[in-house]
Amino acid sequence: MSKRTPATPNGRFRSQEWFEAPGHIDMAALYLERFMNYGLTPAELRSGRPIIGIAQTGSDISPCNRIHLDLADRVKAGIRDAGGIPMEFPCHPIFENCRRPTAAIDRNLSYMTMIEILHGYPIDAVVLTTGCDKTTPAGIMAATAVDIPAIVLSGGPMLDGHHEGDLVGSGTVIWRSRRKLAAGQMTEDEFIEAAAASAPSAGHCNTMGTASTMNAVAETLGLSLPGCSAIPAPYRERGQMAYETGKRIVEMAWEDLKPSKILTRNSFLNAIALVAAVGGSTNAQPHIVAMARHAGVELTDQDWMAAYDIPLILNMQPAGKYLGERFHRAGGVPAIHVELLKENLIDGDVKTITGKTIAENIVGRETKDREMIYTVAEPMMERAGFLVLKGNLFDFAIMKTSVISDEFRTRYLSKPGAENIFEAKAVVFDGSTDYHERINDPALNIDENTILVIRGSGPVGWPGSAEVVNMQPPDALLKRGITSLPTLGDGRQSGTADSPSILNASPESAVGGGLAWLRTGDVIRIDINTGACDALVADEVIAARKAEGIPAYPASMTPWQEIYRQTVGQLHTGAVMEPALKFTHIAEQMPRH
Ligand code: FES
Ligand code: MG
Repeated sequence: MSKRTPATPNGRFRSQEWFEAPGHIDMAALYLERFMNYGLTPAELRSGRPIIGIAQTGSDISPCNRIHLDLADRVKAGIRDAGGIPMEFPCHPIFENCRRPTAAIDRNLSYMTMIEILHGYPIDAVVLTTGCDKTTPAGIMAATAVDIPAIVLSGGPMLDGHHEGDLVGSGTVIWRSRRKLAAGQMTEDEFIEAAAASAPSAGHCNTMGTASTMNAVAETLGLSLPGCSAIPAPYRERGQMAYETGKRIVEMAWEDLKPSKILTRNSFLNAIALVAAVGGSTNAQPHIVAMARHAGVELTDQDWMAAYDIPLILNMQPAGKYLGERFHRAGGVPAIHVELLKENLIDGDVKTITGKTIAENIVGRETKDREMIYTVAEPMMERAGFLVLKGNLFDFAIMKTSVISDEFRTRYLSKPGAENIFEAKAVVFDGSTDYHERINDPALNIDENTILVIRGSGPVGWPGSAEVVNMQPPDALLKRGITSLPTLGDGRQSGTADSPSILNASPESAVGGGLAWLRTGDVIRIDINTGACDALVADEVIAARKAEGIPAYPASMTPWQEIYRQTVGQLHTGAVMEPALKFTHIAEQMPRH
């Protein structure tokens, strides 16, 4: 039997440097012997077969990804059947909803620790188990920086939630219920009941929040098997997809099909287009930029603006009506690709982990459910991408236009002669504690002509950048039926929010961005036509206020918070650890014995 040779530059797997350790039999023995204690044999580990890591993100404190504890068995079966040797290892957990002060600080921590594992252990290729928001970009950033063959396996969304005859979706139910609670239309018990009903099974958020968005992005980048991201966690196809993923990663190890051979600028432009078409999360902006920078791809503001013109074609909450199960049944991400490719809104020639192009992968995957997936020619809504704004308050911010309600449009954006232009008086909050303490204070005189501003909520100020910009109006306004005010902030908002906020403002207040000098009572002028957003404040006044310094923000409470603050960049540029970017193709250099 002739021995198969991997397509790596030296014709060997990385793991062979450990387990064969030419010239270092003592080290080979050390590396090998402890794997015996769960039943592996030296012959297996020295057989020249690839060692496949399974980066396990599920645990009891990361329930969105907990399905992966079970799915790993199917992944391992696939790896074994294809002739690989699986080794599962834990990742730093990330649970969006529960992590204080915000899960955002965990993306960079999880990614950095995964680099150490992928580089420092005998791993030839890796299955990235993804689900909850930041687990997807964290894994992709790590695998891209190390540059070893990697495949994304989503855990899948939860089943659809139902409550009193309505579809209730993750997150979205919270934002809608808290307005009803404040308006006196719901009790606290009913609130909890509706929230619980939105989470009927294992899986991640069942809306097109950040989790579903980022898994769809991973699929669009060509990093998972076609159709992977939308399969609900409890469906039989999910376990089958796990098995096929395990089989495919073994072949990718032999082929040495690394992220650097897949990810191009056009892969990322495709991802930006997809986010617009599905009404995806605004968190996709920093995550896509972060992944692109680690892949050596520069994205510009113009790239986001180009996608602003792409219409909404997916009828899924928060921008639409339905939830994850129907999306999967309608064909999932491949069916979205079909529509975008028809109109040349994505590049079908980019390569994927199947070894084929996107266009080749999606043949015959057109949807039959036109209530769920529309065509680009007759979409749900025109121009659904993120509008990029700039002005004297920040160099960059985005607004998700697909969630602007008719009520909001009529009130702010339909003035004859000044369509899409409005002015509002700022009420400024320093972080979310300040917001919660003062939002119902009648002295603030908050009315329809107010824009709620929050600062101190960016990567440095929070730290981590918090999902707090989707501030709801004071109770008094909610009782009058005013469910959303314009909002602006240097933090983020949940991907499940239906608020037309101006968010991710960079640079943030804590590093001296324009929001630092803004004062309650200033008038802010927003022009949706041109993307201009300015405080109407004289230059001398701005200069005098700048001299007063930056508003205080909370001190770090843990070592990582302090290190995070010292290394993190702004949301505009992906909130990455800037010093980390110089390390690319890390796997090309073998670590020392
Ligand atoms: Fe984890 Fe939404 S909170 S997926
Ligand atoms: Mg979220």
